[in-house]
Amino acid sequence: MLKGSLEMLRPIIPRHFRSLSKVAVKHKERLDDKMQAWQIHSYGGLEELKLCTTRMPVITRPSDVLIKVDASSVNPFDLSLTRGYGSKVLNFMRKAKNLGAESDIEFPLTLGRDFAGTVVSKGHGVGGRLKLGEEVWGVVPVEQQGCHAEYVIANESLVNPRPRNISCIEAASIPYAGLTAWSALWLSGGLCYKTAVATRRNKRVLVLGGSGGVGTLAIQMLKAWNMHVITTCSSDAVNVLEKIGADVVIDYKEDRADEKLVCEGPYDIILDCANQGPDVIKAKGYPHYTYITLNSPLLKNIDERGFISGTVKNVGDFVKYNFPSKENKGFVKWGFFAPSKTGLDALQKFVENGQLVSVVKKVYPFQELPRAYERIAQGHLRGKLVVDMN
Ligand SMILES: NC(=O)c1ccc[n+]([C@@H]2O[C@H](COP(=O)([O-])OP(=O)(O)OC[C@H]3O[C@@H](n4cnc5c(N)ncnc54)[C@H](OP(=O)(O)O)[C@@H]3O)[C@@H](O)[C@H]2O)c1
Repeated sequence: MLKGSLEMLRPIIPRHFRSLSKVAVKHKERLDDKMQAWQIHSYGGLEELKLCTTRMPVITRPSDVLIKVDASSVNPFDLSLTRGYGSKVLNFMRKAKNLGAESDIEFPLTLGRDFAGTVVSKGHGVGGRLKLGEEVWGVVPVEQQGCHAEYVIANESLVNPRPRNISCIEAASIPYAGLTAWSALWLSGGLCYKTAVATRRNKRVLVLGGSGGVGTLAIQMLKAWNMHVITTCSSDAVNVLEKIGADVVIDYKEDRADEKLVCEGPYDIILDCANQGPDVIKAKGYPHYTYITLNSPLLKNIDERGFISGTVKNVGDFVKYNFPSKENKGFVKWGFFAPSKTGLDALQKFVENGQLVSVVKKVYPFQELPRAYERIAQGHLRGKLVVDMN
């Protein structure tokens, strides 16, 4: 009925409102409905991933936004979650956030951290910044239900109108890996303290594993901050990394790669996107001031030893690598994905200024999402894998 009236009014409703009404009608039809989501019901690996019909998520906080997901990326972290990685800390975070409410239940668990989509409903605290029907992009924190589903709830601070100069698929590929690169460099790497362009210009940064999801974005951000970027990758990725702005690209499989990497130093920062680890970097003797790993032992130690013993081990590991001695010449820092409004705004600016482009390796239909997880498990990625919900 409502649909019919809208059709009659079509010629006199301006285009913007027509598309808005379409979203409203489509959503209304589904409001009491169910949605499809890729979920796990226990830990055990990829075979746990099942396409389920489940309840639509509902807005419970004034700052919540309900989003119809149009596309979402798949990250190594999603695959690790199917195996139970970080489950102790994540469950603690869920309980702390929900204070015993129903939604702190661990299973079924929907994976997926970043999305491009459309706002279909919002809490009363969201205000006019995000409009119904608006095309948006954003992230969901690691302890929340994810977006490998038709709909997701996100906090408005982690949702922005989608940059108009990129497609929905491109937009979905950026936020999670982008906020990891941003937080590792800007927060862990301390670039936030060097806000004057002059203090950042020509600082030397080595990005190990520049060809992956995080590496490709880290290189472009560093160039946007006027820094000198040296990166490593396999030979087939050299051209792509030169194209996105790396100053020096070294094929890590060639014979003299380590020698070249030593000569290119000293590095103000080494960002390790290739899971080399501080011991390997020390053994190879790459001269540097700060080394940042994205594969800290933080969650693994607590998974293996429990909270108390794991935390003690974490403190011990951190101090071991940072205790000043003849051998320890640089700092070792841990980099993480940070669900941050400041970070999302920074990514937004980079993209809108044309300083950050996404490198999408492959797009999978929603029904075939496990194939993307399988591809992640094989490694050797060039850029990102994205799932198209439409
Ligand atoms: N802590 C966090 O919050 C967080 C968040 C995001 C990601 N991460 C971690 O950060 C790492 C990077 O993530 P990602 O999404 O970029 O992964 P990815 O897309 O799989 O990229 C890794 C890249 O490193 C390359 N590589 C592997 N070994 C290398 C080596 N020895 N030297 C140079 N390059 C090498 C790989 O290509 P080839 O093997 O073909 O060379 C691949 O292109 C992953 O280990 C991930 O788990 C952590």
